Amino acid sequence: MLRLIRPRLAALARPTTRAPQALNARTHIVSVHRNTENNNPSIPFEFSPENMKRAEEVIAKYPPQYKKAAVMPLLDIGQRQLGYTSISVMNYVAKLLEMPPMRVYEVATFYTMYNRTPMGRYHLQICTTTPCQLCGSDGIMEAVQNTLNIKPGETTKDNLFTLSEVECLGACVNAPMMAINDDYYEDLTPEGTVKLLEDCKAGKMPTPGPENHVRRDCEPASGQKVLLSKEPHNVADFLQEGI
Ligand code: FES
Repeated sequence: MLRLIRPRLAALARPTTRAPQALNARTHIVSVHRNTENNNPSIPFEFSPENMKRAEEVIAKYPPQYKKAAVMPLLDIGQRQLGYTSISVMNYVAKLLEMPPMRVYEVATFYTMYNRTPMGRYHLQICTTTPCQLCGSDGIMEAVQNTLNIKPGETTKDNLFTLSEVECLGACVNAPMMAINDDYYEDLTPEGTVKLLEDCKAGKMPTPGPENHVRRDCEPASGQKVLLSKEPHNVADFLQEGI
């Protein structure tokens, strides 16, 4: 038995021959921080008065000894103010919540919602997980890359668009989909996606939701099957409707 296991243990102990970049081939996100001209700890950051008020409201939701629980919303407020979660944002949040900065770095590097490099005005996140891929997300990705001439992890020269390839964003029933900043655009086609990008370029934020204009939300693509009568507003309406 040991004879069978030993070669496997030896293989595990051997250093890998794969190049380090090959291990990261499926992601553009680097989890280490490197100081750059526009992202280093000597750049000052603090919340604007409105954001400080917002932060205080969030912190007040937690007992004083657990205020570090507010780290995620506070990082989000910082990111929305600056445009990305810089090292100065992380250090500021750590100070505000009296946490070791390393604890904040751990949170910010674990969740992909925190962008740790400067972003374009429109952050395009294309889902390429299995349901979206089966419904044509490869074509959406190709259309965006060809139109904007960037790859995932890159920003266009005019700083308008940053492209990211992401895992499931929870809108699988309306696949394929893409998020533009905080909004979801669903039931995409390559042509429709190019049109969305043109609207963004023209400064017209497109209306979010299914792009095929057949369904309104996430009802079946072939049309609504239930709740076809007037929308009941309370339990009595439900009982009267016999639903
Ligand atoms: S698989 Fe794309 S949103 Fe879920």
